[in-house]
Amino acid sequence: MVCFPKYIVFLVVLLFSSSVSAQHNHDGTGEDSTLSFVEMMISLQTQLEILTRSVIVDDFGEAHDAAYKIATHEGPSLKELQIVMKALGGKAESFEACDKKVHDLAMKIAINAHNKDGDAMVNNYTDLVKQVRTCHLEFREIVQNAK
Ligand code: HEM
Repeated sequence: MVCFPKYIVFLVVLLFSSSVSAQHNHDGTGEDSTLSFVEMMISLQTQLEILTRSVIVDDFGEAHDAAYKIATHEGPSLKELQIVMKALGGKAESFEACDKKVHDLAMKIAINAHNKDGDAMVNNYTDLVKQVRTCHLEFREIVQNAK
């Protein structure tokens, strides 16, 4: 029988479970979600604060969990999503692309934390914060003005 190194098994399980939950959460269907967009963002902020602390002290366990929670966060309610998508109009696709970049960076951080690779983790963390700011600069006002 072929024995795969542990980290390969871990990566396959991680990628499989994350893609299912990311599809489940990230495509924003949120039939059973009751979250407003702001509530969703504030729960992301809580995870980002935990992630910041764990990255600067190399707490790999906490960093993995916080990054994974950011990558697989619950989407907004369907009603809220319809308001946001209507406000975005033709920008909906670039919004989704921006969101996916944040999701993918959070997944990379979770893998870096699993591999106890602090240098890669802080580099991806820095890119994640930059990417979140880019998304906010492009979309925050549009959505806020839709309310
Ligand atoms: C780790 C990831 C993220 C964190 C920690 C975060 C955090 C926040 C925070 C703190 C706010 C302000 C909430 C308030 O008004 O009190 C906010 C608003 C917002 N964010 Fe994010 N954000 C993240 C990712 C994203 C991404 C990827 C997008 C878009 C692709 C996005 C789009 C928005 C929008 C549109 C608002 C305005 C919501 C509203 O006023 O209704 N955010 N975010």
